[in-house]
Amino acid sequence: MELTLNNGVTMPALGLGVFQSPPEQTTAAVEAALATGYRHIDTAAAYGNEREVGEGIRSSGLDRSDVFVETKVWVSDYGYDETLHAWDKATGKLGVDYLDLLILHQPAPDRFGKTIAAYKALETLLADGRVRAIGVSNFMPHHLEQLLAATDVVPAVNQVELHPFFTQPAVQAVDTDHGILTQAWSPIGGITFYPGWGESRRNVMEDPTLAAIGHTHGKSPAQIMLRWHLEQGRSAIPKSTNPARIAENFGVFDFELNADELAAIDALDTGVRNGPDPDEARLERFAMVIPEA
Ligand SMILES: NC(=O)c1ccc[n+]([C@@H]2O[C@H](COP(=O)([O-])OP(=O)(O)OC[C@H]3O[C@@H](n4cnc5c(N)ncnc54)[C@H](OP(=O)(O)O)[C@@H]3O)[C@@H](O)[C@H]2O)c1
Repeated sequence: MELTLNNGVTMPALGLGVFQSPPEQTTAAVEAALATGYRHIDTAAAYGNEREVGEGIRSSGLDRSDVFVETKVWVSDYGYDETLHAWDKATGKLGVDYLDLLILHQPAPDRFGKTIAAYKALETLLADGRVRAIGVSNFMPHHLEQLLAATDVVPAVNQVELHPFFTQPAVQAVDTDHGILTQAWSPIGGITFYPGWGESRRNVMEDPTLAAIGHTHGKSPAQIMLRWHLEQGRSAIPKSTNPARIAENFGVFDFELNADELAAIDALDTGVRNGPDPDEARLERFAMVIPEA
């Protein structure tokens, strides 16, 4: 299933995420995904595995142009010149000469001016043909309004935390109003059950509503969540390093959810974010240096 971005570029709706995929497992995960039929990989400078993503793409035997490669600029590389150089670092590690989608990993509230300058560098990279589309991540409506007021190119994508327990209707509405595609991170609620991230969290994977809908269709809770994203027009980028789960997460094109099922999933929203607040400056994390290629 393909989605058309606001500049006419098409992107496979479902991609493989690689946050927390250890570098030594990332090449195999990318190979497994591409063998399964995925044609879209979402990585980031901050994940430390762009090199291994590139190796997986090359060893798949597919043409570069058959795979939609998405990566993210980290905050320590914000600023016009710094972000132009971040493209050199990312493409050098990935071993590619263009990116399909390059996004700012998050707004940096302590340096929003540099965030804007970074986006202007993305506009330059887009004009030069070094990226096919540009966008943002973790932008709330007020960040988007500030960005749109200061720049020329409307982001193609806003990648945000989005799963049945946290659906961000206000962000989705603003994205839609501006023609920005909403892309779901933690689309199967990974952040509600990542090992070591707080055992007291409510685990979306154990939700009885999802289990019941899954039972009706002979599908797993993960497959129900991914189908819900796709039917509501979002991109989703589930992460797995396990070949069986990589395949399971792609098994979502042979059934449909009805309006009642979609509404029942929508009703699970708690309005409570699991990930970091995008308005919080996480200075230690922001300072992480992205190595040269
Ligand atoms: N922009 C941002 O700030 C941001 C933040 C977070 C994530 N992301 C992106 O979004 C991607 C996905 O989000 P995520 O990694 O946070 O969470 P996710 O994809 O919702 O969930 C990943 C977790 O679910 C497990 N899993 C995968 N498939 C499963 C299945 N079918 N059944 C049960 N468990 C399953 C994975 O473990 P196994 O690997 O063991 O299968 C992993 O622990 C990331 O990889 C990254 O690319 C972006």
